[in-house]
Amino acid sequence: MTISLLAAARARRHTRNRTPGTIHLRCLTPDDGRHVTDLLKRMSPDSRYQRYFRPVHSFRPADIARFVTLSRDHVAVGAFDGPSLIGIAQSLRSSKQPDRAEVAGEVADLHHGRGVATRLVNELAELATDVGVTHFTATVLTDNRPVLALMRSLGWPTEATLDGAYAEVLLTLPAELALATAGRTAMDWDGGWQPRGAVVAS
Ligand SMILES: CC(C)(COP(=O)(O)OP(=O)(O)OC[C@H]1O[C@@H](n2cnc3c(N)ncnc32)[C@H](O)[C@@H]1OP(=O)(O)O)[C@@H](O)C(=O)NCCC(=O)NCCS
Repeated sequence: MTISLLAAARARRHTRNRTPGTIHLRCLTPDDGRHVTDLLKRMSPDSRYQRYFRPVHSFRPADIARFVTLSRDHVAVGAFDGPSLIGIAQSLRSSKQPDRAEVAGEVADLHHGRGVATRLVNELAELATDVGVTHFTATVLTDNRPVLALMRSLGWPTEATLDGAYAEVLLTLPAELALATAGRTAMDWDGGWQPRGAVVAS
C-alpha cells in the first residue's frame, strides 16, 4: 500500500474515532499546513532551536509544503489532541542510501514527557519499514538531553559520531518491525491512545 493511501485511510479513521482526552496519530495531508504553523507557535524558542539549530519565528509557504507533501521518500506523522497538532515526526529517505532516512521531530512544549514522541517515532519507523528503510539517521545537538533520552528509551541499536556541538546518530530499526507490518492493512490502525500525565492548559 502506498503512503498516500495509508495517509488517506488514517485520516478517515481519525475523524471516525475521536475520544476526548485521546491523542490520535495520522499521516499529515496537504490540508494540514495551518496545523504545522500552529504547532510552531506551541514550541518555546529553546525547543525551536533544538529542532532547527537556529531561531525560527515562522515558516515560509515552501517550508510548510515540505512538511505536508508525502511520498514513499517523505513520511510525516502528526499527533493530534482534538483538532490541535501537538507533535510531528518525519523521515526523508536518502537518495544515495535508500535504506536510510533522516528523521526529525518536535512536540509542543506543553505535551513534553507524555510519550508523544515515542509513539510518533515508533509509528514512523513502521511506515518507513514498509517502504524498505532499515536505518534512521539524525543530527542532534549534543546538549539536547530530551532527544538523547528519547533515542535511548527506544532501545534500538544506536551509533553516534560527535562533530562539535552536533551528534550524527544512526539508529537501526528493529527487524521485528518488518514482520509486524507485513500484511498489515490501513484498517489495522489504532486510532488513538491515552498519553501519560495530565495537561492542565492549552
Ligand atoms: C525531543 C522531544 C521530541 C521529545 O518529545 P516527548 O514527547 O517529550 O518525548 P517522550 O515523552 O516520548 O519521552 C521519550 C523519553 O525521553 C525522556 N525524556 C523526555 N524529555 C526529557 C527531559 N527533558 N529530560 C530527560 N529525559 C526526557 C522520557 O522520560 C522518555 O523516556 P522513558 O520512556 O524512558 O520515560 C521534545 O522534547 C521536543 O520537541 N524537543 C524540541 C525539538 C527537538 O529537540 N527535536 C529533536 C531534534 S530533531
